[in-house]
Amino acid sequence: MWVYIDKIADFVDKEVIIKGWLYNIRSSGKLMFPEFRDGTGVIQGVVAKNGVSEKIWEDFGKLTQESSLIVKGTVSKHPKKEGVYELQVSDLEIVAIAEPYPITPKEHGVDFLADKRHLWLRSPRQMAIMRVRNEILQSIRDFMYENGFTLFDAPIFTPNACEGTSTLFSTDYFDLGKAYLSQSGQLYAESGAMALGKVYTLGPTFRAENSMTRRHITEFWMMEPEMAYFDIDDDMNLIEDFLSYVVQRVIKNKRQELEFLGRDLTKLEKVVKPFPRVTYDEAVEILRKKDIPLIRKTANGEEQIRPFPWGEDFGAPHEEAIVEDFDKPVMVHRWPSEAKAFYMKRDPDNPKVALGVDVLAPEGFGEIIGGSQREDNLDFLLERIKEHNLPMEEFEWYLDLRRYGSVPHSGFGLGIERLVSWICNLEHIREAIPFARRPNRIRP
Ligand code: 4AD
Ligand code: MG
Repeated sequence: MWVYIDKIADFVDKEVIIKGWLYNIRSSGKLMFPEFRDGTGVIQGVVAKNGVSEKIWEDFGKLTQESSLIVKGTVSKHPKKEGVYELQVSDLEIVAIAEPYPITPKEHGVDFLADKRHLWLRSPRQMAIMRVRNEILQSIRDFMYENGFTLFDAPIFTPNACEGTSTLFSTDYFDLGKAYLSQSGQLYAESGAMALGKVYTLGPTFRAENSMTRRHITEFWMMEPEMAYFDIDDDMNLIEDFLSYVVQRVIKNKRQELEFLGRDLTKLEKVVKPFPRVTYDEAVEILRKKDIPLIRKTANGEEQIRPFPWGEDFGAPHEEAIVEDFDKPVMVHRWPSEAKAFYMKRDPDNPKVALGVDVLAPEGFGEIIGGSQREDNLDFLLERIKEHNLPMEEFEWYLDLRRYGSVPHSGFGLGIERLVSWICNLEHIREAIPFARRPNRIRP
């Protein structure tokens, strides 16, 4: 019977078939120890020269790394290691002998591995990350479903900008002029919330940012819930419930993968609500106390500005300094309205700040979520669109949401790859998605 390696414990003393690839092979005289992988795990086989036909013995000798094969054998418990199983091989069918495999257990440079990403994905570390990513996405979908949200897919071709006009990718769209690749499904999600109450989008989004940082890709996946009648506090409550659920469920279901990746799970176990809530003003105080300057690029290098000026956005060193004293995600709320998107509602108690919230992951992983309460007043929204020099005609449909039964509403956007990077403790976001797109990389 064909079984998968992750279910092998149920087949001790039984004869099974495994379909997969050769991961590695060692031999010692009359024994060979091939390691097979099938996508769900790796199992060591034992081939005894006097236990198989001469042809099978010779065929094993021909196998190269990543050759594809179908093997038959009896499952046994490893004589010394608890919870480890072996396959006492009785038969082998070679499906395809692999050419000399470019990725070997020795160290390769990241550029080489990125060029070979289509093969690099077969390595145990990359497979572990992909399984964690899968669990994250599944837990997001389950949380949203269980909590009454309707999945509401937003288009990717759009005629307008959501997050500022400087990071748009454009393409020709038949006779209709330029279309842009969506930076965010939010504006469409808002129309969904006015129809269905609580919705979320989940799909690829695009930013033409020429940044080569460890946290930026040009094509990333975003999950964006949008809720009618939620204010900024309701939004933050949802973020806490949601993130606690996802992190705890991933620890529960993907412990083995996370341990394999060397993740310190005690740190993730602390990610349970409530999360600290810090206003932007308080965050600036923290930066000033720690004497973290704003760094501004100038013609002849860099300029350090002290104390950190109110109104500026935070960069990586600021985010790190803010989260340093906490062991949970930190929700920074009430941002200078000038620094934020046109759709954010001003705080009625202080119009200099917008009702926005950014969630900063612990351990210096930076912003994983950006959200806000939305401007629900038609006249204020018209002003904002003018201030931001956005083409009014493209926002007419969006303004209709304020003309026909406008209600307070809020939402947020979670960057999937940022979340994967944090949960898996990845140095670089390029490992968090099967095929990362960066300013200098579109292949493979
Ligand atoms: O903060 P952002 O720009 O917010 C929005 O797009 C809102 N429309 C969301 C909403 O309220 N519905 O992006 C949200 C998140 C960021 O916090 C970050 O996690 C991720 O998207 N993100 C990126 N991830 C990887 N590479 C990039 N270049 C990213 N830009 C944003
Ligand atoms: Mg943001």
